[in-house]
Amino acid sequence: MPAVARRVLALGPAGRRQSLRQMNRCMAAVLTVVAALVSASAAIAEPPGEQVLNIGHRGASGEAPEHTLPAYDLAIRQGADYIEQDLQLTSDGVLVVLHDETLDRTARGPAANCTGRVDTKTLAQLKTCDVGSWFNAAFPERARPEYVGLRIPSLEEVFQRYGKRINYYIETKSPETADRMEERLLALLDRYGLRKPAAVRRQVLIQSFSPASLQKIHALDRSLPLIQLNQITDSAQLRAQLDGIASYAVGIGPFLSNVDAALVAAAHDRCLEVHPYTVNDAATMTRLLDLGVDGMFTNFPALLDQVLAKRAGPPKSRAAKSARAWDRCRRT
Ligand code: G3P
Ligand code: CA
Repeated sequence: MPAVARRVLALGPAGRRQSLRQMNRCMAAVLTVVAALVSASAAIAEPPGEQVLNIGHRGASGEAPEHTLPAYDLAIRQGADYIEQDLQLTSDGVLVVLHDETLDRTARGPAANCTGRVDTKTLAQLKTCDVGSWFNAAFPERARPEYVGLRIPSLEEVFQRYGKRINYYIETKSPETADRMEERLLALLDRYGLRKPAAVRRQVLIQSFSPASLQKIHALDRSLPLIQLNQITDSAQLRAQLDGIASYAVGIGPFLSNVDAALVAAAHDRCLEVHPYTVNDAATMTRLLDLGVDGMFTNFPALLDQVLAKRAGPPKSRAAKSARAWDRCRRT
């Protein structure tokens, strides 16, 4: 007879009952911890790991109206590691999620509210605009009745909907004219408990074409991970800027045609990640993966997910490094 069984028998009936109760309590505690761990892993977004990041550009904007909650929901369902938000500021100081500085391309509704510059409208005015119908008209093959009447989300509404369950890739748009856009963004990160997860596990990446905007954020909080977007068409010109960029950013977001092996190597030499935009076909995704990029923006996260899944070798062993690996890289 095993020693444990002999010890249990030696306890007598009362001792055995007490022992059983202790074991039950112990099992219940273990199950509680396991349940909590399972629930946490399901509820909290995975931090960027040893993988090429799948960034849902304006959500899954190839299949649903850009920067709407259905486009974000779809990107998440399709396997995006991050969903992107472009920020605009209303005349009453609210950060909203919209790509263009003007409403005309994607908003429909009363002309006084839904045409012209976003920064001349209040949030209440913007909330009268429909930002789904244009998509149905432009892409009838992907049109859905439920897209009619979709509203422009505020950034706060996005945080309220997804909390810490997902990763955000937020762009300061027109920061030169948007009053204290950076401070407003950081205040919202604080309000929703996202600043520390941004710093520790890159739950939020902040991107901009404006070096001044990123440098301002870096001055406000050096721990926040920043991505410098770039429109320069020449890899050599961009490479010449990398030393400066590395002083405040953790990566670059080049236009996809600017990416070549020399740019990726030069960026990685400086511990900068490379996240090209906007990559919507499998051939270009493959070309960029072969060059060793660390992530990419796409309107079709499901397609990128498929391309990544099909690649040979361990799925996360390509040129990408985890946030921790990049931190180590930057320390050495
Ligand atoms: O942020 C990456 C990419 O979105 C930059 O271009 O014009 O789509 O914001 P844009
Ligand atoms: Ca963008």
